[in-house]
Amino acid sequence: MIVLGIESTAHTFGAGIMDGQGNALANVKDSYVTKKGGMIPARAAQHHVEVCGDVIRRAMETARLRWKDIDAIAFSQGPGIGHSLRIGAMMTRSLASRLGLPLVGVNHCIAHLEIGRVMTRAKDPVLLYVSGANTQIIAYEGKKYRIFGETLDIGVGNLLDSFARTLGLGFPGGPKIAELASKGKTYIKIPYAVKGMDVSFGGINTFLKNMIREGKHTKEDLCYSLQETIFAMLLEVSERAMAHCGKNELVLGGGVACNTRLQEMAGQMCRERGARMYVPENQYLTDNGAMIAWLGLLQYKAGNRTSIEESVTLPYQRTDDVEVTWRN
Ligand code: ATP
Ligand code: FE2
Repeated sequence: MIVLGIESTAHTFGAGIMDGQGNALANVKDSYVTKKGGMIPARAAQHHVEVCGDVIRRAMETARLRWKDIDAIAFSQGPGIGHSLRIGAMMTRSLASRLGLPLVGVNHCIAHLEIGRVMTRAKDPVLLYVSGANTQIIAYEGKKYRIFGETLDIGVGNLLDSFARTLGLGFPGGPKIAELASKGKTYIKIPYAVKGMDVSFGGINTFLKNMIREGKHTKEDLCYSLQETIFAMLLEVSERAMAHCGKNELVLGGGVACNTRLQEMAGQMCRERGARMYVPENQYLTDNGAMIAWLGLLQYKAGNRTSIEESVTLPYQRTDDVEVTWRN
């Protein structure tokens, strides 16, 4: 079985192709970026309109497939930014009706988790899912992927992107903050905002902006201290979720998981508790079409179909809205 997956929840338009054995035959993407300033939703959507045809064509070429080889088309139905989601949904509907192929709408957050599982061969992990808009600690319990902890306000990536914008750096900011952080020397105390099993980043954002205004610390030290603090917060909650659920695997997912310091700290936490930490390749951490294809394939095999009428975008869909039909 071969499934094409279309990703367009935010700044990335991606097309990926997966086979039934969990091999990625193609994973092509094109992302909207800026040199200065943040992401403007209407511009990201315009970017997707411009690149979508070419990205899908390149995916088909990379996989060396013809349309008759494709069994179904999956697309990210939600959650995400309405402007961006609509382009992927429209493209998928057009392709599916033109080619007479079945459609499968998938949840973007669960796709991050399932691609992590198949690529690393982790069996029943806790997922630390850290991206721009989302920050969730997820585990499978009773037919659903349950959120054990999450951000109470902005996603951790949004915090990094927002601070990067304050520093006059472009979007995405995560890699630029990481680069500055590697040159930091002194730890500055930053508010540590864990509330029960949840985390909060809004106050930290304000705190950092004030610090920059006061000009007492270098941006390298601030970035370094920021990373140390927020990663410790995320791993504290992840560790508690692992203990609570009795799971001994941790999988990292989402664009922020590309950060090597986060990977290092997660590895250390897992080692200390006799657990294993897994990270898929960067191309499967940031938004990508392969993860959409893979979840689509799992759902398709479980008998899931989305009719054209049902294929509306779901910008606010929650991870635990979805019944997991493909795991036993
Ligand atoms: P979602 O819809 O799941 O919220 P997203 O649109 O935010 O996804 P991703 O590609 O999963 O997309 O994540 C993007 C985020 O990852 C951005 O906030 C970016 O700054 C951050 N990021 C990318 N690389 C790194 C890195 N090396 N270190 C830290 N953050 C990173
Ligand atoms: Fe994502």
